[in-house]
Amino acid sequence: MAERPYTLLSCSMSIDGYIDGASESRLLLSNELDLDRVDRVRAGVDAILVGATTVRNDNPRLLVRDPGLRRQRCERSLPEHPTKVTVTQGGCLDPSSPFFADDGAAKVVYGSSQAVAQLRHRLGRRTEVVDAGDPVRMRHLSEDLHARGVRRLMVEGGGAVHTQFLAEDLADELQLVVAPFFVGETGARRFVGEARFPWHPGHRARLASTEQLGDVVLLRYALSGRYDAGASGSP
Ligand SMILES: NC(=O)c1ccc[n+]([C@@H]2O[C@H](COP(=O)([O-])OP(=O)(O)OC[C@H]3O[C@@H](n4cnc5c(N)ncnc54)[C@H](OP(=O)(O)O)[C@@H]3O)[C@@H](O)[C@H]2O)c1
Repeated sequence: MAERPYTLLSCSMSIDGYIDGASESRLLLSNELDLDRVDRVRAGVDAILVGATTVRNDNPRLLVRDPGLRRQRCERSLPEHPTKVTVTQGGCLDPSSPFFADDGAAKVVYGSSQAVAQLRHRLGRRTEVVDAGDPVRMRHLSEDLHARGVRRLMVEGGGAVHTQFLAEDLADELQLVVAPFFVGETGARRFVGEARFPWHPGHRARLASTEQLGDVVLLRYALSGRYDAGASGSP
């Protein structure tokens, strides 16, 4: 079997398991301490993956914020920012969104075969568009990233992408942050959707550590034998 990168899933959710509210506006689940931690985790990876809905709804920049961390990456002969990666079935991505900004980060878009021509036309040469087949399988995507030199992959959501990585047993670690409030709206997105997961009452995941960061708590789960305790981004 082809190799895949060390893969850590990162997510923040409400006490009742929602990763966003039902309204248009983005729900802030993190706090400053946690955002700094996430920045350190980002600085330690080669690529960051989010689903196309997250690109459309959240307009994430997915950059390393701290200049010191960026400098350290350069000293290690790494690019200033990890490669940004997204995946789409329908190909509806706006080239003017912050994901595609001219910010020094490499960009890779995995598109279904039917969407590739349109994506290449729309996104231009600065974004690598990969024909990922139909249907797009996250295992194939992970293996392709490994073949491109990605050894550490951070998956930042949303729910559809996390569900696939977990259900297909492609994650080595889960970093789950719980914010101290409820969302309580059934129309809102939950951390994962319906699926058969490798971890269930008869096969519990290993809780590797917990850490309080102000008013949120970080839970780190070891999901594979490759779990790397040093990947937390904690000081
Ligand atoms: N709290 C957090 O930590 C956090 C982090 C990230 C996101 N979020 C929230 O999560 C919400 C979005 O989550 P979501 O589950 O709706 O969407 P998502 O996982 O961000 O993206 C889903 C989309 O990605 C593409 N996709 C996923 N799997 C694919 C596959 N196998 N093949 C081809 N395309 C695939 C499809 O794009 P197309 O529709 O283009 O075909 C699909 O509609 C947002 O509201 C955001 O605010 C929260």
